[in-house]
Amino acid sequence: MPQITLPPLPWAKDALAPVISAATVDKHYEAHHAGYVKRINTLIEGAGYADSSLEEILIATASDPEARALANAAGQAWNHDRYWESLSPDGGEPSATLAAQIETDFGALIDLEDALVAKGVGHFASGWVSLTYKDGALHLIETHDAGTVLTQGHAPLLVLDVWEHAYYLDYQHDRERHLRLVVDELLDWRGASARFEALQRRR
Ligand SMILES: [Fe+2]
Repeated sequence: MPQITLPPLPWAKDALAPVISAATVDKHYEAHHAGYVKRINTLIEGAGYADSSLEEILIATASDPEARALANAAGQAWNHDRYWESLSPDGGEPSATLAAQIETDFGALIDLEDALVAKGVGHFASGWVSLTYKDGALHLIETHDAGTVLTQGHAPLLVLDVWEHAYYLDYQHDRERHLRLVVDELLDWRGASARFEALQRRR
Protein backbone atom coordinates (compact mmCIF):
# COMPACT_ATOMS: atom_id res chain seq x y z
CA MET A 1 0.00 0.00 0.00
CA PRO A 2 1.42 3.41 -0.89
CA GLN A 3 2.27 5.60 2.08
CA ILE A 4 0.39 8.67 0.87
CA THR A 5 -3.05 7.88 -0.51
CA LEU A 6 -5.52 9.73 -2.72
CA PRO A 7 -8.56 10.52 -0.57
CA PRO A 8 -11.95 9.80 -2.18
CA LEU A 9 -13.91 12.77 -3.54
CA PRO A 10 -16.62 13.91 -1.08
CA TRP A 11 -19.34 13.76 -3.80
CA ALA A 12 -20.03 12.17 -7.23
CA LYS A 13 -17.98 13.55 -10.13
CA ASP A 14 -21.03 15.14 -11.73
CA ALA A 15 -22.27 16.73 -8.47
CA LEU A 16 -20.74 20.16 -9.17
CA ALA A 17 -22.17 20.48 -12.70
CA PRO A 18 -22.92 22.71 -14.46
CA VAL A 19 -20.53 25.07 -12.65
CA ILE A 20 -17.72 22.47 -12.80
CA SER A 21 -18.36 19.66 -15.27
CA ALA A 22 -17.87 15.97 -14.54
CA ALA A 23 -15.18 15.93 -17.25
CA THR A 24 -13.21 18.64 -15.45
CA VAL A 25 -13.55 16.92 -12.08
CA ASP A 26 -12.50 13.60 -13.62
CA LYS A 27 -9.37 14.95 -15.30
CA HIS A 28 -8.49 17.17 -12.34
CA TYR A 29 -8.79 14.35 -9.80
CA GLU A 30 -7.70 11.26 -11.76
CA ALA A 31 -4.84 12.88 -13.70
CA HIS A 32 -3.61 15.95 -11.83
CA HIS A 33 -4.30 15.17 -8.17
CA ALA A 34 -3.59 11.44 -8.48
CA GLY A 35 -0.41 12.27 -10.39
CA TYR A 36 0.93 14.37 -7.50
CA VAL A 37 0.18 11.60 -5.00
CA LYS A 38 1.94 9.03 -7.20
CA ARG A 39 4.94 11.34 -7.51
CA ILE A 40 5.22 11.77 -3.73
CA ASN A 41 5.27 8.01 -3.22
CA THR A 42 8.02 7.63 -5.83
CA LEU A 43 10.09 10.47 -4.39
CA ILE A 44 9.88 9.39 -0.74
CA GLU A 45 11.11 5.85 -1.40
CA GLY A 46 14.31 5.56 0.61
CA ALA A 47 14.32 9.29 1.36
CA GLY A 48 13.78 9.07 5.12
CA TYR A 49 10.08 9.85 5.27
CA ALA A 50 8.91 6.29 5.98
CA ASP A 51 6.55 7.21 8.84
CA SER A 52 5.74 10.77 7.82
CA SER A 53 2.29 12.16 7.12
CA LEU A 54 1.66 14.48 4.19
CA GLU A 55 1.72 17.48 6.56
CA GLU A 56 5.04 16.34 8.09
CA ILE A 57 6.57 15.94 4.62
CA LEU A 58 5.37 19.43 3.67
CA ILE A 59 6.83 21.06 6.76
CA ALA A 60 10.11 19.12 6.51
CA THR A 61 10.69 19.97 2.84
CA ALA A 62 9.39 23.57 2.84
CA SER A 63 12.76 25.23 3.31
CA ASP A 64 14.98 22.54 1.78
CA PRO A 65 16.15 23.49 -1.73
CA GLU A 66 17.38 19.90 -2.23
CA ALA A 67 13.82 18.60 -1.79
CA ARG A 68 12.03 21.00 -4.17
CA ALA A 69 10.39 18.27 -6.28
CA LEU A 70 8.97 16.51 -3.21
CA ALA A 71 7.88 19.80 -1.63
CA ASN A 72 6.01 20.74 -4.82
CA ALA A 73 4.24 17.37 -5.13
CA ALA A 74 3.34 17.39 -1.42
CA GLY A 75 2.06 20.97 -1.63
CA GLN A 76 -0.12 20.11 -4.61
CA ALA A 77 -1.53 16.98 -2.94
CA TRP A 78 -2.32 18.88 0.27
CA ASN A 79 -3.87 21.82 -1.60
CA HIS A 80 -6.06 19.51 -3.69
CA ASP A 81 -7.26 17.65 -0.58
CA ARG A 82 -8.37 21.03 0.82
CA TYR A 83 -9.85 22.14 -2.54
CA TRP A 84 -12.25 19.23 -2.90
CA GLU A 85 -13.50 19.66 0.66
CA SER A 86 -14.06 23.39 0.00
CA LEU A 87 -16.68 22.63 -2.67
CA SER A 88 -20.18 21.23 -2.35
CA PRO A 89 -23.36 21.31 -4.41
CA ASP A 90 -25.20 22.08 -1.16
CA GLY A 91 -22.74 24.01 1.02
CA GLY A 92 -25.24 26.10 2.97
CA GLU A 93 -24.31 29.33 4.71
CA PRO A 94 -21.65 30.30 7.28
CA SER A 95 -22.64 29.39 10.84
CA ALA A 96 -23.55 32.21 13.22
CA THR A 97 -20.05 32.11 14.75
CA LEU A 98 -18.27 32.26 11.40
CA ALA A 99 -20.72 34.88 10.10
CA ALA A 100 -19.87 37.11 13.09
CA GLN A 101 -16.13 36.73 12.37
CA ILE A 102 -16.73 37.53 8.68
CA GLU A 103 -18.61 40.67 9.72
CA THR A 104 -15.72 41.73 11.94
CA ASP A 105 -13.01 41.14 9.33
CA PHE A 106 -14.73 41.86 6.00
CA GLY A 107 -17.96 43.73 6.74
CA ALA A 108 -20.41 41.44 4.97
CA LEU A 109 -20.34 38.00 3.35
CA ILE A 110 -20.70 39.55 -0.12
CA ASP A 111 -17.62 41.70 0.54
CA LEU A 112 -15.62 38.60 1.45
CA GLU A 113 -16.94 36.77 -1.64
CA ASP A 114 -16.06 39.70 -3.92
CA ALA A 115 -12.58 39.93 -2.38
CA LEU A 116 -12.05 36.19 -2.85
CA VAL A 117 -12.98 36.40 -6.54
CA ALA A 118 -10.79 39.50 -7.03
CA LYS A 119 -7.83 37.82 -5.32
CA GLY A 120 -8.19 34.78 -7.57
CA VAL A 121 -8.61 36.82 -10.75
CA GLY A 122 -5.63 38.99 -9.85
CA HIS A 123 -3.34 36.07 -9.04
CA PHE A 124 -0.63 35.90 -11.68
CA ALA A 125 -0.26 32.47 -13.34
CA SER A 126 -0.83 29.26 -11.36
CA GLY A 127 -1.63 29.04 -7.69
CA TRP A 128 -4.21 29.03 -4.94
CA VAL A 129 -6.37 31.48 -3.01
CA SER A 130 -7.42 30.58 0.50
CA LEU A 131 -9.65 31.85 3.26
CA THR A 132 -7.70 31.18 6.43
CA TYR A 133 -7.77 31.80 10.16
CA LYS A 134 -4.71 32.95 12.07
CA ASP A 135 -4.13 35.02 15.22
CA GLY A 136 -7.82 35.59 15.83
CA ALA A 137 -8.70 36.87 12.36
CA LEU A 138 -9.73 35.69 8.91
CA HIS A 139 -7.34 36.27 6.02
CA LEU A 140 -7.34 35.90 2.23
CA ILE A 141 -4.01 34.45 1.19
CA GLU A 142 -2.67 33.71 -2.30
CA THR A 143 0.08 31.16 -2.77
CA HIS A 144 2.00 30.58 -5.99
CA ASP A 145 2.43 27.27 -7.79
CA ALA A 146 2.40 24.56 -5.09
CA GLY A 147 2.65 26.95 -2.13
CA THR A 148 0.43 26.17 0.86
CA VAL A 149 -0.97 28.24 3.71
CA LEU A 150 0.08 25.43 6.06
CA THR A 151 3.75 26.34 5.79
CA GLN A 152 2.81 29.97 6.61
CA GLY A 153 1.13 28.87 9.84
CA HIS A 154 -2.41 29.58 8.62
CA ALA A 155 -5.35 27.22 9.16
CA PRO A 156 -7.34 26.77 5.94
CA LEU A 157 -11.12 27.24 5.92
CA LEU A 158 -11.56 27.30 2.12
CA VAL A 159 -8.91 26.69 -0.57
CA LEU A 160 -9.55 27.46 -4.25
CA ASP A 161 -7.47 26.20 -7.16
CA VAL A 162 -6.65 28.86 -9.75
CA TRP A 163 -4.48 26.67 -11.96
CA GLU A 164 -5.89 26.64 -15.51
CA HIS A 165 -6.57 22.89 -15.28
CA ALA A 166 -9.31 23.73 -12.74
CA TYR A 167 -11.44 25.57 -15.30
CA TYR A 168 -10.00 25.53 -18.82
CA LEU A 169 -12.22 22.73 -20.20
CA ASP A 170 -15.37 24.55 -19.05
CA TYR A 171 -14.43 28.26 -19.27
CA GLN A 172 -11.26 28.42 -21.40
CA HIS A 173 -9.38 31.56 -20.27
CA ASP A 174 -12.29 33.03 -18.28
CA ARG A 175 -11.07 32.51 -14.73
CA GLU A 176 -13.30 35.30 -13.43
CA ARG A 177 -16.55 33.70 -14.63
CA HIS A 178 -15.48 30.33 -13.25
CA LEU A 179 -14.52 31.77 -9.86
CA ARG A 180 -17.63 33.93 -9.59
CA LEU A 181 -19.88 30.90 -10.13
CA VAL A 182 -17.84 28.70 -7.78
CA VAL A 183 -18.00 31.36 -5.05
CA ASP A 184 -21.71 32.00 -5.59
CA GLU A 185 -22.83 28.38 -5.89
CA LEU A 186 -20.30 25.81 -4.69
CA LEU A 187 -18.49 26.98 -1.55
CA ASP A 188 -18.94 24.54 1.32
CA TRP A 189 -19.74 27.03 4.05
CA ARG A 190 -20.96 24.21 6.28
CA GLY A 191 -17.51 22.60 6.13
CA ALA A 192 -15.72 25.94 6.55
CA SER A 193 -17.87 26.66 9.61
CA ALA A 194 -17.04 23.26 11.13
CA ARG A 195 -13.32 23.88 10.60
CA PHE A 196 -13.59 27.37 12.08
CA GLU A 197 -15.46 26.15 15.14
CA ALA A 198 -12.96 23.32 15.70
CA LEU A 199 -10.17 25.96 15.73
CA GLN A 200 -12.13 28.04 18.25
CA ARG A 201 -12.43 25.05 20.58
CA ARG A 202 -8.64 24.53 20.46
CA ARG A 203 -7.87 28.09 21.55
FE1 LIG B 1 -5.57 21.52 -9.45
